[in-house]
Parts: sequence; structure tokens; C-alpha cells
Amino acid sequence: MQKTNFAEETLDPADWAATRALAHRMVDDAINHLDAVRDRPLWQAMPESVQAGFAMRIPQGPQPLDQIYSDITSHLMPHPMGNIHPRFWMWYMGAGNFTGALGDFLAAIDGSNLGGGNMAASQMDRQVTGWIREMMGFPETASGTLVTGGSMANIIGLMAARNAIAGVDLRQYGVDAMPQPLHFYASDQVHSCHFKAMNLLGLGKGSLCKVPSDEQFRLDIDALKEQIRSHRDQGIKPACVIATAGTTNTGSIDDLSAIADLCAAEGLWMHVDGCIGALIVIAPDNRHLVAGVERADSLALDLHKGLHAPFDVGYALVRDRRQHRLTFAEDAEYLQKTSRGIAAAEFLHDYNLDTSRGFRALKIWMMLKEHGVEKFGRLIDQGIAQARYLTERITLEPMLELMAPTVTDVVCFRYNPGGLDEGALRDLNIEIMLCLQEAGIAAVSDTTIHGHHCLRAAICNHRTRRTDLDLLVQETLLIGGNLVITSN
Ligand SMILES: Cc1ncc(COP(=O)(O)O)c(C=O)c1O
Repeated sequence: MQKTNFAEETLDPADWAATRALAHRMVDDAINHLDAVRDRPLWQAMPESVQAGFAMRIPQGPQPLDQIYSDITSHLMPHPMGNIHPRFWMWYMGAGNFTGALGDFLAAIDGSNLGGGNMAASQMDRQVTGWIREMMGFPETASGTLVTGGSMANIIGLMAARNAIAGVDLRQYGVDAMPQPLHFYASDQVHSCHFKAMNLLGLGKGSLCKVPSDEQFRLDIDALKEQIRSHRDQGIKPACVIATAGTTNTGSIDDLSAIADLCAAEGLWMHVDGCIGALIVIAPDNRHLVAGVERADSLALDLHKGLHAPFDVGYALVRDRRQHRLTFAEDAEYLQKTSRGIAAAEFLHDYNLDTSRGFRALKIWMMLKEHGVEKFGRLIDQGIAQARYLTERITLEPMLELMAPTVTDVVCFRYNPGGLDEGALRDLNIEIMLCLQEAGIAAVSDTTIHGHHCLRAAICNHRTRRTDLDLLVQETLLIGGNLVITSN
């Protein structure tokens, strides 16, 4: 027999007043946390007691929210990655910002699903994607979509490229139906996400051809021309050149205008991976570095890097809106548009791979309105100027060696006391990097460029000051010197 007297439940708090007080405390704590970020160590290892907390079994019953919050303040907040700290220059990340965090909170409260619908959130998404398209100098006929990050933005662009160039209806018939194998081209500095993309697109990693980079770490155009010619002779169809505006290793920028000319002449799709550098287009002192980016057929941006939006948000732009939609839009009987009501709008998921989508646009909208595009441009110039300052400091220190030209905000260098082979230099520099992290002083990463291991500072951080870079130089020399003494 059906039970009729069950108690109906909800996830809303039983006591809104207590929840309000706790939520206010969380906001106060969050502001204090950011305000004092410079005074804390950048990173610290988690003690076992903290690690044990993350091994606890799934709770079956309830627990008061203030106790849960106390676990967060004691276990989680003291052990972040560190990328909001002024001396975090590891990999390539943004430093976040408070307004963006408020945007994420309010987006969750609004609760809308940005798969699409006739609501203010969709209008805001369109407005923001339009603003960014305009910022990047693309015409109104281009279409943009907010995604999780740069990897997904690249996948969107490369999938549009594959489908446009394949010469067969790939959506219907798949890659087996392609009359010729397709090849994509990028410099040997290309980000690894493009190999993931080739895997996902069913083309295989082997169809992404690495073109050598020159001494400036830019794609060698003559070598690219030669590969294209040779592949055509072999019956392979060259499809797309992936130009990088800001390589991960050194921040170098491919010659975008020359690649655009070549793509136009050869009938190839030009995709720009602009995750690190394409936003330089809004930076008044350096925008010339990315001249030609506006000629791309598709473009990937990372807004959690250059705009410091809280993770995660990237942006894909496709010049031909029709081709963009054709690549992703599907029709489903349970998702039909209506002439009025909630479904009386274009589905935003017709331009990407998701169906449900978070409301990422709100944080970007708030940040752009609060500061204006010009300030974000100035901050990008500031990071590049700081990178040049660090470069100068490095070149003045006999024990430090600059390992690549500094073009944007990435500086590659190593501690080199002389008399050590490449292997010993590598071990020494890794140890310096780890000591800097473990002491909570600064975070740089390491990489290998044209066969040489080095440290790498990516200054995409609006909190960094020149004195922070002075400290990096000072501590690198100190730690390096001590390590050399103790090893002798
Ligand atoms: C040049 C480049 N492309 C793509 C990506 C991937 O971006 P995301 O980490 O946002 O997926 C990165 C990440 O740093 C990058 O440097």
C-alpha cells in the first residue's frame, strides 16, 4: 500500500537566520583571506592529520554546516595550490579575483542552465561572448562560446576545422568516410592539449605534424611549406595550421600574419591557440606582437589566465557562425524551441559539446564592467614589463643564465655556477625550484627547451610587484649557492 503520511523534505536550510549569519562570516573570512594573501606562505605541505580528513567515508547522516565550514577553514584553506599568491609564476595561471568569485556565487544562486533558454542569463552570455569577439577584432558574423578552459576551446576550433575541410559529412559518416587522410600542423612548441584533441577527433595524434621552431621558438614557415608540399605529394590532405600566440614553454608568438597568408594561399584552416597570448591584443604597449590574430578561422582563449577569472572559463571563437553551428548543433524531440516562454531562444549548447552549461558569463560580465577592458589590457602590459625587468635582473647576475628570448610574460632561466654538465644542472635547478616551493617563497616551474632544462617564471599575476621578482632572484642565488657548497 502506498505510504501517504511521509514528511516532505527540501535542501533549503531549516534556519535561514543562522545560515545568513554563517554566510556573512564566510564572506568576511574570504575577504580577510585575500587581503592577507601576501603574508602567508605561498604553499605548504599538508600534514598527515589533514590528509586523513580526505580519506573519511561518505557521510550517511547530517552534520551542522558551521562544523563543516570549520573543517574547510582548518583543512582546505591553509593548503591551496598558491596561484592567488603574488609570487606564483608556475605553469601559466591567472591569480583569480574577488569580483569573479562573487560572480560564481551569484551564478549559482541564479541557478540557470546555460544550455540555453529565454532568460536574462542567456542574454548575458550572448553579450559577453559578443564583447570578447569585439575585443579580439572579429566581425559580427563570427560566433563565440564560453567553455571550461583552453583545452576545450581548442577542441571546439579544431573540430570545426576538421568538419569544414574533410570533404565529407563527418557528422553523419565519421572519419572512415574521408576520401583522404587529414593532417594538421603546429610548431614543436605546441601545447599537449592539441594531441588530446587529435585523439578525440578520431584523427590520431600522428596526424598532428610538428614543424620545427626557429631560435626564437616560432614556427618555421619554410619548414611548414615543405611539409605541406610533401604531404600533398603523398595524397594526404593538409587541413589546418595551429598557430600559437604565446607558447607554453617560452611565451613566443608565431608569425600570425605569415601563417594567415600561407593558409589563404593553400586553402587551409587557420586556428590560433591564443590561450596565453591572444589577449595581448587589448594591451596598448604590446598589441603589435599578435598582429594577424584577427585573421584566424578559429581562436581559443583562456579567460582564467589573461583575465584572471576564477577557474574555470575559456572561450572559443569561430569566424564562420554557420560552420560553427553546423559542427555542433543537434536536434532532439525533448529540446524543441517554442515561440514563447522559456524555450523561446536559440540553444547556446549548439556551439559546443555540452548540453548543460554553468553560468560562466556572469563573473566575466561583472569583472569587465567593474574594471573596463582597458585595465585588463594595462595588466597584461604590466606582466610583460615585469618579465622584461626579471630578464634584465637575470642578465646582470653571472650565476644566472637566460635560456630563451623574453617576448611576452614568460622568462626561462637557470642557475648555472659553471663547470656542471646538463644533467647536473638539471638536478640542481629542480632542487632550487622545490626548495623555493617548500619554503613557501615562490613558485616557478621547469621545462626543457631545444634540449636544455631550465626554470620558467610565467608572470600572469596581477598581484606581483617588482620587489617580488627581486626576491626570486635573491633566493634563487642563495639556495643555488648553498646547494653547490653542500654538494662539494
Ligand atoms: C598554449 C596553451 N594552450 C592550451 C592550454 C590549455 O588550457 P587549459 O589549461 O585552460 O585547458 C594551455 C595551458 O596552459 C596553454 O598554455
